[in-house]
Amino acid sequence: MTTFVTKGPVAEAQYDLFMLTVWVTFGIFLLVGSVYIVAIIKFRERPNDDRPMPSQGHGNPLVEIGLIGASILLLVVIAVPTLKAIWFTHDTPDDPESYLGTWYSGEGLAEEEAENPLIVKVIGYQWWWAFEYPQLGITTANEMVIPAGKVVHLELRSVDVIHSFWLPRIAGKVDLIPGRTNSMWIQAGDNFARWKEKQALQGEGPELREQYATYLEEEIHDYYYGQCAEFCGESHARMLFRATVVGDDAFAAWVASEKEGHRPPDNKTWEEWYAVYDKNPDALTGDLNEGLKIFMDRGKCATCHVVKGNPRALGVAGPNLTNVGSRLSIAAGWLNHHTEEAVIDPEQQYENFYKWIDQTNVVKPGNLMWKANGGGIGELTDENGDLALLTDDEIHKLSLYLQSLQ
Ligand code: CUA
Repeated sequence: MTTFVTKGPVAEAQYDLFMLTVWVTFGIFLLVGSVYIVAIIKFRERPNDDRPMPSQGHGNPLVEIGLIGASILLLVVIAVPTLKAIWFTHDTPDDPESYLGTWYSGEGLAEEEAENPLIVKVIGYQWWWAFEYPQLGITTANEMVIPAGKVVHLELRSVDVIHSFWLPRIAGKVDLIPGRTNSMWIQAGDNFARWKEKQALQGEGPELREQYATYLEEEIHDYYYGQCAEFCGESHARMLFRATVVGDDAFAAWVASEKEGHRPPDNKTWEEWYAVYDKNPDALTGDLNEGLKIFMDRGKCATCHVVKGNPRALGVAGPNLTNVGSRLSIAAGWLNHHTEEAVIDPEQQYENFYKWIDQTNVVKPGNLMWKANGGGIGELTDENGDLALLTDDEIHKLSLYLQSLQ
């Protein structure tokens, strides 16, 4: 998380503006500081000093007008690029290379969407993020996936309090405010034209395109860290998110897998699985079946979470869990289970799922999963209405099931 290594035009514009301000203020500091130091040394009192007290006169019109003029000049020097940067970062650019129809090879794209950039609706919750892709009909949580080198238009909303979207190396920050929609655009890496301009290259040839593809792959494809940047309650510091930047093909593959969702264990269809579940759930055995059963009944998970494919897991109060086993972190980026090379470490992943279910109130104090108005896992009861939290064995099986959602 740094704003000094920029990976896109928005962050770059913000960085340039920051550096301009730093240099201007640094110049003022040097100038004022040196006059101050000269005055201290030259006019300090010495032993047996019989110099007369310097004139205590009030101001010199020439100096005062000069300083006012210089201040105005410096403010203009900062203000003009600031306004330019505000406009630049506010208006989503119209870049035909970024139109969905230009680069997205997957299925199910409406014709009227072909000439728009990718739109992602970012919705803030205490304390996690939903990312909806309305043009593609998918929703994910906490780890957004975006294509490299393309303009992405974000619509930012909140369901509860004010949050702020900040992806330091790519762009930020814009607030998510309840009752209104803010927008911003992000772009990981330069588009072809801008890249050529920076490299002082010209032309269109396939070699150039290849060079450009190499640039995206080597410098831009990555796993980026984001953070909520507006205090939003007790677990604000634990409201992180991720952006995975990938190539066009990998993006289309990810969308396809999100759309497809999951099947129940044992290669059954959901119809077959529920037929058994409704009549004779004891016939569903094995860790994954047991885990899925807990997901549906004892744990009440399905009341708040969607798992694409499962026709009865339709709750929207919590994060969408489609492919949650493929994410490199859970609990909105707070529990990580990946290596330096952004590869999942399965043991750590299991431990994280277990910890998150077992001690969700410790991992993220105040979160809704623990206390959801009588339905949270911190308030689970048995048939007599007595408190009956999930047992270690139940948490173990539930963790295995969640881990299998890949
Ligand atoms: Cu959301 Cu801080």
